[in-house]
Parts: sequence; C-alpha cells; structure tokens
Amino acid sequence: MPTPTLDARLEAVLEMIRTDVHADIGSDHARLPVRLIREGRAERCVAVELNPGPLEQARRSVARSRLEAQIEVREGDGFGPILPGELGSASLCGMGAYTIRGILERAGERLPPALVLQPNDSALLIRLWARATGYHVRAERLIAGYWSYPVLRLERAEGADLAYEGMPLDAALKYGPLLLRLGGGVICHQIEADIARLQKVAAPGRESWHELETARTALDVLDHGIK
Ligand SMILES: C[S@@+](CC[C@H](N)C(=O)[O-])C[C@H]1O[C@@H](n2cnc3c(N)ncnc32)[C@H](O)[C@@H]1O
Repeated sequence: MPTPTLDARLEAVLEMIRTDVHADIGSDHARLPVRLIREGRAERCVAVELNPGPLEQARRSVARSRLEAQIEVREGDGFGPILPGELGSASLCGMGAYTIRGILERAGERLPPALVLQPNDSALLIRLWARATGYHVRAERLIAGYWSYPVLRLERAEGADLAYEGMPLDAALKYGPLLLRLGGGVICHQIEADIARLQKVAAPGRESWHELETARTALDVLDHGIK
C-alpha cells in the first residue's frame, strides 16, 4: 500500500511525535499511526476508536498497510482501552476542544507524559486544562485551512510553564504563548479577523469587550514583543 498522505494539520501533528509507544485517540482512517510507524517516529502504535464505522476503517487501513504487528486497533472511549504507563505519548486530533478536554479529564492515570492535540476550534480550553494539570506547552503551530487549526505539544513537567513567562495571560491562553512569540501570517490574520468581528459587537461590560481587549493585547505582542 502506498504511504498515506496527510493534510497539513496532521503533517504538523506527525512532526511533533517521536516516541516508543503512541496512541492516536479517535483515529478514524488511522493514517497518522501508519505514517508514524513508516517514518520510524514510533515503534508501536495503538489506534483507538469509539464508533463502529471509523473503527472498521482503521482496521482496514492497518491491514492494507500490513502493519498489524506494530499498530493495534482498539475499540473504546478515549483512554479507556489503554493501560496505565503503557504510552510515551498520545494524540487527539480533529475534534472540538470541549470533546478533547472531556477525554483528557476522564483519562486519569492512563494519561501519558506527552500529548499532541489538534482541536478544530479555539485551544483556550486545552491550555487552561494543561495549566491546571501540570502539562507545559512545548510546541505550537497554527495551520491555515477551512478554519485555523491549532496544534499543541504538551509535556508533563514540574513548576511554572515558562512558555507563559512575561506574557499577558489572557492573550497567551486564547492565542497561544508560543504562537504569539513566533508570530507569522496565520496568527496575525486570526487576531485581526477577531478584532474586526468584535469591534462591531463589543460594548463595555459585555464578554465581547473583554475579548476585544484580549485580541488587541495579542496584536500588540505580535507587533512589539513582550514588554
Ligand atoms: C473528525 S474525526 C478525526 C479523525 C482523525 N483523528 C483526524 O484528525 O483526521 C474524530 C474521530 O474521533 C472519534 N471519537 C470521538 N469521540 C471519541 C472518543 N471518546 N473515543 C474514541 N474516539 C472518539 C470519532 O468516532 C471520529 O472517528
């Protein structure tokens, strides 16, 4: 079987993974685990699927790639089919941030030391969860597509997350501490679009007013760096 292609967001995810055992939760087509094994980025993978259609799709894809010895497809909810301590890392991609956070919250001691997460919407909930549970932001990308897709690598670590050091917290949580440090066209475009949208609806005392202030602060960091 030819090596499966990945779209830009899953290519970004792929580049953030290098481990012994990796689980792709909500794997669907299982293209990510196939590429991880083919490129030597993981020695073994577990593809987890909740729903029968995608589960069957994952099984077919792994069989076609003849990688059954390295990729195990397991049926279940989130980290349910994973043993504590089994994984070096896990990915959750192509779902809403609320769904991803729910799966992470239910995982308990099955959570691995590293996570690569790609929510289809704002990563704010994910960053709040990471700060509350001792995961630090180690890498962030924003991939242009139908929406802008955030991709984050988180690692379990002690102490304060240095990615946020010197950053205005609300802006960093909303837009990403490393994305604001790195800048670039996609994040700049997203912030400018937010400002244009919010300017039409914001009024003092409303949530949209605070969101507009946050977006303006983020743009200021992009334009002038951290003060
Ligand atoms: C939109 S697809 C994304 C597929 C792939 N990860 C990607 O990014 O292209 C989301 C997949 O997650 C699966 N899923 C949703 N909730 C899940 C859960 N709690 N546990 C396991 N899989 C889940 C769905 O069945 C679906 O196949």
